[in-house]
Amino acid sequence: MLDHGQAPPLTPEPSRPARPLLHSLIRRKPVERLVAEGGQGEGGSLRRSLTMWQLTMLSIGATLGTGIFVVLGEAAPLAGPAVTISFVIAGVTALLSALSYAELAGSIPVSGSSYSYSYATMGELVAWVCGWCLVLEYGVSVAAVAVGWGEYLNELLDGTLGFTIPEAISSPYGEGGYINLPALVVVLLAMVFLMGGAKESARVNSIMVGVKIVTLLLFIGIGFMGVKSGNYSNFAPMGQAGISAAAATLFFSYIGFDAASTAGEEAKNPKRDLPRAIMLSLAIVTLLYVLVAFVAVGAMPWQDFGGTEAALAQIMKDVTGQSFWGVVLAAGAVIAIASVVFAVLFGQTRILFAMSRDGLVPKVFAKVNKKTGAPRANVVIVSLFCGALAAFIPLGELANATSIGTLFAFALVNVAVVILRYTRPEMNRTFKVMLFPVTPALGFLACGYMMYSLPAATWIVFGGWMVVGLVFYFGYGIRRSRLATAEK
Ligand code: ALA
Repeated sequence: MLDHGQAPPLTPEPSRPARPLLHSLIRRKPVERLVAEGGQGEGGSLRRSLTMWQLTMLSIGATLGTGIFVVLGEAAPLAGPAVTISFVIAGVTALLSALSYAELAGSIPVSGSSYSYSYATMGELVAWVCGWCLVLEYGVSVAAVAVGWGEYLNELLDGTLGFTIPEAISSPYGEGGYINLPALVVVLLAMVFLMGGAKESARVNSIMVGVKIVTLLLFIGIGFMGVKSGNYSNFAPMGQAGISAAAATLFFSYIGFDAASTAGEEAKNPKRDLPRAIMLSLAIVTLLYVLVAFVAVGAMPWQDFGGTEAALAQIMKDVTGQSFWGVVLAAGAVIAIASVVFAVLFGQTRILFAMSRDGLVPKVFAKVNKKTGAPRANVVIVSLFCGALAAFIPLGELANATSIGTLFAFALVNVAVVILRYTRPEMNRTFKVMLFPVTPALGFLACGYMMYSLPAATWIVFGGWMVVGLVFYFGYGIRRSRLATAEK
């Protein structure tokens, strides 16, 4: 086995004739090479320090946030009390792909997540397309989540101190202001903590995840006292269509479970722990979502959800009769959403690290600081880019396109797991998708269906994003790729 050892040299065949274009597009990176290069960056290595629990916390950190604190309020009027079922449906959809992630993360335990799985199975062009989608899932969504964080912060300030940050410095040009300062600040704060390396990042992340789980448990406990059985009496007022519409909206709240798979090269025992962390985080998150939703629609008539932005805080206030508890909930939400920014930013830096090591993006992204084991230059560039995006650009449709990019990456993972089973049946797999190949096939179809359900405007933006990505690949990556330079 080549695990974590020295990467074998890429030995080109002597005096090979010029490669046709198609060869470049479908060249694959062998699994053994991907694994052997694990951790190696430019001038230093990432450090293996993360335990199974820390990896689980990383995935929960990236997942649990805006979806439950904000989007639940938008989904409840669509489905009524049956929004609880919508959470289960969205969770099962996520689970189908999570199983494929778990198998691949256990077989190819590297930092590039679905980008690396695609490189090993479907070749360079698909891998690039996948990596480019991951920039939507991670990089652009950090900016979008940071903007949401600013809005929640304003609500907290309003509820506690009675003031809000003026529009001029809390929204970008084109949306009534000049700069979204709170969004920039939360990204820069995350940057500072990420400079410390994986161990430091995991510690900060675990604290924030602890706070958000306790906040939701508090909500479940206190909210339960306000549950009235009458609120469930008309359980599915909008029928099946309403339940499905809410499930599609709520899928967003499960995005992020794959974050552990971006830390494969910093895990102590990646083959064993990555699959466990992915499955465990999804189980914990689903359980919390279903309980929170059940209590929320039991404590407040579903028709009232449309009228309030911070439904959970409102419920806490109503049940206890004290605004203090509403403030506690809002403070928990501010930390929860900040932790999504943090964990997703971590994921983006590690994906670019893997892509840079493969030569598809500039080398600077794979530079590792010897003292901390953190890819510091990468962290700074990614943070400044995401911070600027959040601060100055009205994200609009680009933010909506994050779901489509994520679903596309998930769909590819379901394909990759099938290809690897057939091309490398002998590989040691620490986790195996059950009911193969039915489960990944269903996972693929579920992702395809959700993509199909998204509005035309989102598809147009996604198409534009892909064109930019392809221009970058054909202008840069195709020639600079390490597989290409080894062939010269
Ligand atoms: N799942 C993440 C959230 O809900 C993106 O904030």
